[in-house]
Amino acid sequence: MANPLQLRAEVLANHPEGAYHRLVLHAPGVPQRVRPGHFATLAVGGPGSALVLRRPFAIHRADPQAGTIELVIAPKAAGSRELAGARVGERLDLIAPLGTPFPLPEQPVSALLVAGGYGSAPLFALGAEIRRRGGRIGFVLGAAGTGGLYGVDQARALTQDVLLLTEDGSTGLAGRVTDPLAEAIRAIGATVVYACGPMAMLRAVSEIAVAHEVRVHTAVEEAMACGTGICMTCVLPVVGEDGRSRFVRSCTEGPVFDGARVRWADIGSVPDDLEGAAAMGGGLR
Ligand SMILES: Cc1cc2nc3c(=O)[nH]c(=O)nc-3n(C[C@H](O)[C@H](O)[C@H](O)COP(=O)(O)OP(=O)(O)OC[C@H]3O[C@@H](n4cnc5c(N)ncnc54)[C@H](O)[C@@H]3O)c2cc1C
Ligand code: FES
Repeated sequence: MANPLQLRAEVLANHPEGAYHRLVLHAPGVPQRVRPGHFATLAVGGPGSALVLRRPFAIHRADPQAGTIELVIAPKAAGSRELAGARVGERLDLIAPLGTPFPLPEQPVSALLVAGGYGSAPLFALGAEIRRRGGRIGFVLGAAGTGGLYGVDQARALTQDVLLLTEDGSTGLAGRVTDPLAEAIRAIGATVVYACGPMAMLRAVSEIAVAHEVRVHTAVEEAMACGTGICMTCVLPVVGEDGRSRFVRSCTEGPVFDGARVRWADIGSVPDDLEGAAAMGGGLR
């Protein structure tokens, strides 16, 4: 797990970008601790609010010189809508960085970075780091429509290998990121795929990567209550190196997991063969 700080971070800017809001937060001491794949949690609602749980967001950028981190917020329901409307000068109660970041290749590799919607937010810093280490990268970015694509210009600033897809066909190819994935893997000779987006997308990306014998690292978006490893809200069934399946916390051991080891079909249930399943009433669905 990361070594997080808790502080009241001042909102320096709130940029509307497509369907999202990019918040720039002054968080001294945090950026130097951040690695691509880490996330932050923000308190919402204020004292006395019924919104008791913090909301988790991937860290998009971290700038140690400026002492800032940036988050990309999709306004969905009460908590994220409030954060998307944060005013410059307001202070937000922040804990960051949290989680386990993307594993970085020791040697230069060719890596395909795949995202659905705001899932791209943590992938640009990752792509920059892979390039800094002498590797090659390609992006496959998808969304329901044009406004849902995030960071197209950032992707193009890092590589000419950028493939865009929208389900309504308004930008790029019509379809989903998984449609051209096998071809994209071949086109750049990728030996590793990094993916972030909805769980169904991560499952499909993992299956394609495994079928092509390519490593796959997925940043999952499992609902979280505490975000710090205490409550077990965020567990997923994952196959360990010993071949045994266990529930693993996505807030501390994740959110990045080897996509080949996540038991995607069993998320939300207690598989019978899970270690400790009997004690949990295993087999119940
Ligand atoms: C590791 C991680 C990284 C994320 N990164 C981003 C990001 O970069 N940008 C972004 O817009 N959103 C991101 N999300 C999703 C974001 O946390 C939810 O959209 C947000 O918590 C919803 O809060 P709400 O009050 O608007 O919705 P509500 O549905 O009212 O939230 C109720 C509760 O459910 C949890 N919850 C609801 N939806 C989700 C969800 N999809 N995933 C996880 N928990 C959920 C919330 O934490 C909250 O405790 C991320 C989630 C995780 C786990
Ligand atoms: S959210 Fe509480 S243990 Fe992960």
